[in-house]
Amino acid sequence: MKRILLATLLGFSGAALADGGLLQKECVSCHNISGPTAQTLNEAFAKKGPDLFYAGNKYRQQWLVSWLQKPRRIRPTGIYYGNHIKAGAKEDEIDAATLTPHLALSKADATAVAAELMKLKVHDDLIAKEKIESGTISKQMGEMTFNKFLGCMACHLIEPEYGGFSGPELYTATQRLQPEFMASYIRNPQAWDPKSWMPNKHLSDVNIQKLVRYLDLLSKESANAK
Ligand code: HEC
Ligand code: HEC
Repeated sequence: MKRILLATLLGFSGAALADGGLLQKECVSCHNISGPTAQTLNEAFAKKGPDLFYAGNKYRQQWLVSWLQKPRRIRPTGIYYGNHIKAGAKEDEIDAATLTPHLALSKADATAVAAELMKLKVHDDLIAKEKIESGTISKQMGEMTFNKFLGCMACHLIEPEYGGFSGPELYTATQRLQPEFMASYIRNPQAWDPKSWMPNKHLSDVNIQKLVRYLDLLSKESANAK
């Protein structure tokens, strides 16, 4: 509000502000768009939204355009699950009343903001280290690797109501994320965010490729189920 008022007082037109200014105006109160990421736990707890300063290395532009118009929840328990969990009869439950819906943009604004976000590419270095090999994996083998062998399901949903809820859901991961980003984040979450809650499991290249293929399979199934 303050900035809009200031702009009016200074005599800027709305159009001049909208030109690349929407991110600054509507998004920086919750998202870090200039880096670096949180360096201390205190800073990590204070985050109000995921980092966006490497958005161009992370998202698919098409997904950004549509999600920004019609956001649906990605992290079942928000940006920090500790703030959105309550004790249930048997186990912890999501405290939905504490979660607020994300703001939605018009098609024109979503398109403009997505284009701005895609320019933010400070982590080309990490992306360049990944090579995605084509190949397939059966659902059974994928789930075995993801769940039984590597324990990823403790924190991630693989279906809307199935899996852990402290991390982002992964049944639409490939619709929103670039495959090289997924590989790189799985390889070393702390290279992207030193205070990421996700552990570095020091996985082999073979396992990383398997996991990316499995996430791809999940996203295709979830797109088909619509
Ligand atoms: C009031 C705080 C707030 C504001 C303002 C806000 N966001 Fe968010 N944003 C969040 C939170 C919290 C999430 C995580 C939502 C989830 O996981 O479901 C999020 C998620 C996102 C995501 C998906 C991130 C990911 O990887 O999961 C994108 C993209 C995004 N916001 C873009 C924007 C843009 C662009 C703006 C400005 C037009 C904006 N946000 C304004 C709080 C905010
Ligand atoms: C202890 C909980 C935990 C475990 C175990 C875990 N993750 Fe995560 N993961 C997270 C959190 C939290 C994030 C999101 C960090 C953030 O806010 O950006 C994440 C992010 C991701 C992302 C990026 C998703 C996105 O939208 O940004 C992928 C892909 C991913 N994890 C895959 C895996 C795989 C594969 C495994 C198993 C090898 C795994 N995770 C194990 C907690 C976990």
